[in-house]
Amino acid sequence: MKLWEKGINPEPAIIEFTAGRDRKTDLNLTKWDIIGSMAHVIMLQEVGIIIENEKNEMLKTLHSLFLLAEDGGLVIEKDIEDIHSQIEKEMSSILGTTGKKIHTGRSRNDQVLVDIRLFTREEIDKLAQIIQKLFTKIQSLSEQYSEVLLPGYTHMQPAMVSSFGLWFGSYAECLADDILLLAGARELNNRNPLGTAAGYGTTLPINRKRTTELLEFDDLLYNSAYASLSRGKVELAIASALASVAQTLSRFSMDICIYMTSEFRFIDFPDEYVTGSSIMPQKKNPDVFELIRARSNMIQTLPNQVAMLTSNLQSGYNRDLQLLKQMIFDAFGDVKECIEIMFLMLNNIKIRKNITDNPLYNNIFSAEEVNRLVKQGIPFRDAYKAVSEMVKNSPFSKTTLSDYIHEGSIGKLCNNEISAIFNKRMNCFKSRSAAEIEAKMMQYVK
Ligand code: ARG
Repeated sequence: MKLWEKGINPEPAIIEFTAGRDRKTDLNLTKWDIIGSMAHVIMLQEVGIIIENEKNEMLKTLHSLFLLAEDGGLVIEKDIEDIHSQIEKEMSSILGTTGKKIHTGRSRNDQVLVDIRLFTREEIDKLAQIIQKLFTKIQSLSEQYSEVLLPGYTHMQPAMVSSFGLWFGSYAECLADDILLLAGARELNNRNPLGTAAGYGTTLPINRKRTTELLEFDDLLYNSAYASLSRGKVELAIASALASVAQTLSRFSMDICIYMTSEFRFIDFPDEYVTGSSIMPQKKNPDVFELIRARSNMIQTLPNQVAMLTSNLQSGYNRDLQLLKQMIFDAFGDVKECIEIMFLMLNNIKIRKNITDNPLYNNIFSAEEVNRLVKQGIPFRDAYKAVSEMVKNSPFSKTTLSDYIHEGSIGKLCNNEISAIFNKRMNCFKSRSAAEIEAKMMQYVK
């Protein structure tokens, strides 16, 4: 059964190809499709398009479908295209004529838009919590190892003195910026497209502000044609935010892979957390971090994929947009899995002390030798020249944490300030769960 069937039997191969993976992908949207329908039904009754009794029957049936979905019992049947069609089919077969009224004043185009936005809002909020957990872990490692020195690199050459405090703390501050991008994507996402119908509105006297309030959006998407155009735009913002988180994970993983090598040996993990080789008995491989790096690098291609998919589409709905769902939904799962495993690994990280005692790293103190002369009144360039001559013998005395007094240096990490920025940006990720919003809708059964 297709919602748009008009007496001609569609060719099965065409239906299979156009439904694509939607029968599976759309299951992510089931609960939200039901909740969107509940808001629509409540509004239809309030504006007088359906009567009280019809609203009650529809809400009760939608509620039973919600419970079925929660138990995993609601599937998209073989000859049904997508979740919107499946739910409309259930409504008509359970309620007959009343069920057939559910699609009044809406289109699958605004329905899928609203479902994606509600699902995405929840995913963003869940992801933010997971990022917060990782942020807290990295900051506590920064504090715990704030006094353990580390060579800092530029051009992959030992450059200046750094510390584990500074290194961990740098990735925490990365996450503080990633969370701002996620908050921006969330704000863009949290507007209501319901009621824009196929993209050009409807002559029925619907109340779009009411569904906006019921679905707990910040505001509505006003222009109906923009609602269609926004599909792809909001995904681009989300993809960019996810790519930014992925960039942090990828660079962090790369550092860890290098620091684990026998040449560096800055850090280590217990044997249970590394992998071995089938042929080389000595190997302790960082496969987890290599895979985080690979998956994160793939996520970084996502904004490009979204941009390419939408780049030559005429305004209005085009079926191409359907493929955005899978891309974005999978990416949320990937980022979450990478963060969870990163968290587990960091819980078990072992830090080597006294790394900078190795004569190999003597020259990382040369720049501070220059500064010592500068403090004695010697012009910087002259001091630089004098110290350059000493580099071969590297007789430099080691700087200590207390020599660094400015913000953001190894002596003054400012983790509290970074944490305050992070926490302020976390304030927005507070949507209510599907179950809570559904329970609220059911209070409209009279
Ligand atoms: N599966 C479709 C999608 O995700 C739903 C909207 C279908 N609309 C249409 N006009 N064919 O885009």
